[in-house]
Amino acid sequence: MIFDTHAHYSDSSFDIDRHSLLMSMEENGIGNIVEVGAGINSTKNAISLSEKYNFIYAAVGIHPQETEGIKETDMEWLKSLALKEKTVAIGETGLDYHRDSADRQIQKKWFMRQLEIARETGLPVIIHSRDAAEDTLNIIKKFYKANPEGAYGVVHCFSYSTEIAKIYINLGFYLGIGGVITFKNGRKLAEVVSATPINRLVLETDAPYLTPEPYRNDRNSSLYLKYVIEKIAEIKGISCKEVIDITEKNAKKLYRL
Ligand code: NI
Repeated sequence: MIFDTHAHYSDSSFDIDRHSLLMSMEENGIGNIVEVGAGINSTKNAISLSEKYNFIYAAVGIHPQETEGIKETDMEWLKSLALKEKTVAIGETGLDYHRDSADRQIQKKWFMRQLEIARETGLPVIIHSRDAAEDTLNIIKKFYKANPEGAYGVVHCFSYSTEIAKIYINLGFYLGIGGVITFKNGRKLAEVVSATPINRLVLETDAPYLTPEPYRNDRNSSLYLKYVIEKIAEIKGISCKEVIDITEKNAKKLYRL
């Protein structure tokens, strides 16, 4: 079944129909979902959703744009949540220089601290990296020894070049592929998918964001992953079923399920 490795169903845009939508996942071929924390509140909500629905797992973390005002006690709290049975990753964490709403030094500090927690707890990491390719890689290389067979984490919504993709694959990371692959300006990502072995790709929505074409302006959900799957199947020259099966296997290896 389809494995959505990255979603935000605690977002208020799902308040009107969250339960009925989530209850419709199984009949639509969605097997598992990882609800990703991106701050204090969304991390709390990720834990709650994972406790309420057996097919939902939680990731706990502080998004780079949410790092201002974060304290070490918040990190101790994250670490305590990391020990919960249904917590499968630390993140999303990383660096985001796109809008510069958070100080870069502060972003780096809490990114590195969350990588320490991942190391201490043995969990994989969900990396958010936007317009910060070099700094992100330099930090990652300090924490992980290259191991192409590794499952250290996933670069969520991968947005960099094929060259950088190769470096991450070599280090032991997966690439998260979502709606952007269907966009008219998604050619760069299509090249990355073409050049990356299928056993290093995982599916993600980032719901409610990044809805695939032809529904780009709608609220995203895991139900739209079929358009991402069709595109990957086309690029790789394999069937949709193969894309679903292989990426599910990859996601389970990534999250140790
Ligand atoms: Ni996200």
